Amino acid sequence: MSNIKEKVNRMKNITITQTGLNVSAVGLGCMRLTELDEAALPRYIEKSAELGINFFDHADIYGGGECERRFGNALGHTSLKREDIIIQSKCGIVPGKMYDLSSEYILSAVDGILGRLKTDYLDILLLHRPDALIDPEDTAKAFDTLYKAGKVLHFGVSNFRPMQIELLKKYASVPIAVDQLQLSIPHSVMISEGIEANMTSDGAVDRTGDVLDYCRLNGITVQAWSPFGGKNGSFIDDNEGYPDLNWVLGETAAKYGVSKTTIAAAWILRHPAHIQLLAGTMDQNRLEDIVKATDLTLSKEEWYKLYLAAGHILP
Ligand SMILES: NC(=O)c1ccc[n+]([C@@H]2O[C@H](COP(=O)([O-])OP(=O)(O)OC[C@H]3O[C@@H](n4cnc5c(N)ncnc54)[C@H](OP(=O)(O)O)[C@@H]3O)[C@@H](O)[C@H]2O)c1
Repeated sequence: MSNIKEKVNRMKNITITQTGLNVSAVGLGCMRLTELDEAALPRYIEKSAELGINFFDHADIYGGGECERRFGNALGHTSLKREDIIIQSKCGIVPGKMYDLSSEYILSAVDGILGRLKTDYLDILLLHRPDALIDPEDTAKAFDTLYKAGKVLHFGVSNFRPMQIELLKKYASVPIAVDQLQLSIPHSVMISEGIEANMTSDGAVDRTGDVLDYCRLNGITVQAWSPFGGKNGSFIDDNEGYPDLNWVLGETAAKYGVSKTTIAAAWILRHPAHIQLLAGTMDQNRLEDIVKATDLTLSKEEWYKLYLAAGHILP
């Protein structure tokens, strides 16, 4: 395969500001990797790279570690070089029991991640979820240790509110570069609370602490997880759960000669915050459709029409 850097440069890029990393606007989420036959995985990774994807998002809990293990094995059966791709993983969830962001836990979790991924370093490590019992000074020590050991190059968080990031920043000697958050047309809490500011409507409830504006102000890249997620699987083609949204998606898709999936992805990428979309599909055709969104800029009217069709309001 020709140089992945050339392919990525052809796709819309996002710079994760505080890392200097140039990443594809669409990254591959690896949470559902075990749904693919293991033998098909090298080809899927290669296909992603051919589409211009250089970014792979993991977590130690995906498939109970199996997603990282299979990815680590598969990478060796592709033409990709480790240094040409960006691997991110997360830790801090002890499934079904608790959250743990202690330095002791993080250090051992990262050793497990590196072993399964068969790599010496992670480009980015995220804290998967806030931990009520976090001791930020202790957590920050783990960041420092991992950075100095060369095991993790950059750091971020997931599902964190602004003040939780501030608390961590008070002690961290490394920048917090990423906040990974759920975002899709129907699940756009962080957008609705801004639009419905100072109203008594449900969307006005402050659920994220204005995390989107906070991230923009602080040069923190927002990554969108479950970009196609709905009440029952994907909202796309769920005509019972999301009839109006599917109608407008279909109308807009017909106008551009693309699929509804492309339009739903373009809706996220249209936001000027340079949000990175993490696609979880294990279907090559869908992945292609999602990547097509990087060449399509929705008008403001189209963006708002889709937003309204998902049931949100404009005051
Ligand atoms: N930080 C966190 O707390 C958190 C939580 C969840 C996920 N994540 C990350 O975000 C990534 C993406 O999350 P996700 O997998 O839930 O998101 P997604 O991309 O919204 O969902 C993909 C799922 O929807 C299905 N789907 C059905 N119709 C689709 C369509 N028309 N277009 C696209 N997908 C369709 C896919 O099936 P097919 O495979 O058959 O296409 C797949 O099962 C994960 O892989 C993970 O890396 C992070």
